[in-house]
Amino acid sequence: MRILGIETSCDETAAAVVQDGREVLSNIVFTQVALHAPYGGVVPEIASRNHVEALPRVLEEAVRRAGVGWDGVDAVAVTYGPGLASSLLVGLSAAKALSLRLSRPLWAVDHIEAHIYSIFLGGNAPRAEEVCPFIALVVSGGHTGLVRVEAVGRYALLGQTMDDAAGEAFDKGANLLGLGYPGGPAIDKAARGGKTDFVRFPRGRQRSDNVRLGGLNADLCFSFSGLKTALLYYLKEYPLSPARAEVESLAASYQEAIVDALVERCAPAVEGMSCLAVVGGVSLNSRLRAKLKEFAESRGIRFVAAEPKYCADNAAMVAGLAGAGQGITGAAAMAIDADPNLELVPTQR
Ligand code: KG4
Ligand code: ZN
Repeated sequence: MRILGIETSCDETAAAVVQDGREVLSNIVFTQVALHAPYGGVVPEIASRNHVEALPRVLEEAVRRAGVGWDGVDAVAVTYGPGLASSLLVGLSAAKALSLRLSRPLWAVDHIEAHIYSIFLGGNAPRAEEVCPFIALVVSGGHTGLVRVEAVGRYALLGQTMDDAAGEAFDKGANLLGLGYPGGPAIDKAARGGKTDFVRFPRGRQRSDNVRLGGLNADLCFSFSGLKTALLYYLKEYPLSPARAEVESLAASYQEAIVDALVERCAPAVEGMSCLAVVGGVSLNSRLRAKLKEFAESRGIRFVAAEPKYCADNAAMVAGLAGAGQGITGAAAMAIDADPNLELVPTQR
């Protein structure tokens, strides 16, 4: 079963062909990052316009590199949420049209679920039955949460951010430090030369009487907006000097606060579990990977992360998930609308 996946939920235009849910035959990602960089963040109108322009050639390239031809595509899979409405619509419309044109089934999948599935892609990846049940730390530009994965397709949300996502905290912090966009890789790089204890930034602990927790355990939830504000006030009091060492130490201290908050919340989540996984764009962070690995080793549990090429937004995770039989298909998929606020596990607020 070869599935052509399409991913356009944010600012990456991506297409991939995946065989039997695991073997990635092609994985094409056209990143629009340079187009959004002058604005310091993703501009939805620019993103959707560029998806329209780029998607046809990204799709052709994915099929060509896979070496299977359009006839070799057995199904089409696409992200239908969560994400930017106007961006999601481009991929979803293209997927519906392709499904009709090729007379192949359509699969509509959840973007966060696809990120979680990314750990199963590639020849060296574990098989679901080897690691389930496990805890997934989901860290991307739009989402941050802890999910208990019983099996592919069966999830329980344990905790989530009350405000900004971890990736957003990286992006906003980098902006304040003049490190450019996207902030995650820039802070990661700058932090390598800095001191992690230069400034002690807040770790965003939640009080258990916070009404916004909506029944979730405070010890498993995150908050990053205070951290960004702390950096802002620090910089008001001590304006940045041109000394590179200072920027590097501020980046390292800021990154340490994000990483500590993430690792600390994993502790109660992994009680009684034997595997911890990290997924999403922020899982590319070198400090986070190192500290999670160290944490897992200290607990005697397995630590799993996706190959770097499957961490940030890509379509292989979308095609892979559909290949594992997860998502909405048939007439329901053809009728589906983009769902910008799609929740992996619906929560009552
Ligand atoms: O998963 P992703 O590609 O898109 C969303 O679904 O949101 O994640 C993008 C986020 C951005 O905020 C970016 O700054 C962050 O991932 N990111 C990183 C690193 N590389 C990308 N954050 C920290 N360190 C990195 N090395
Ligand atoms: Zn994503």
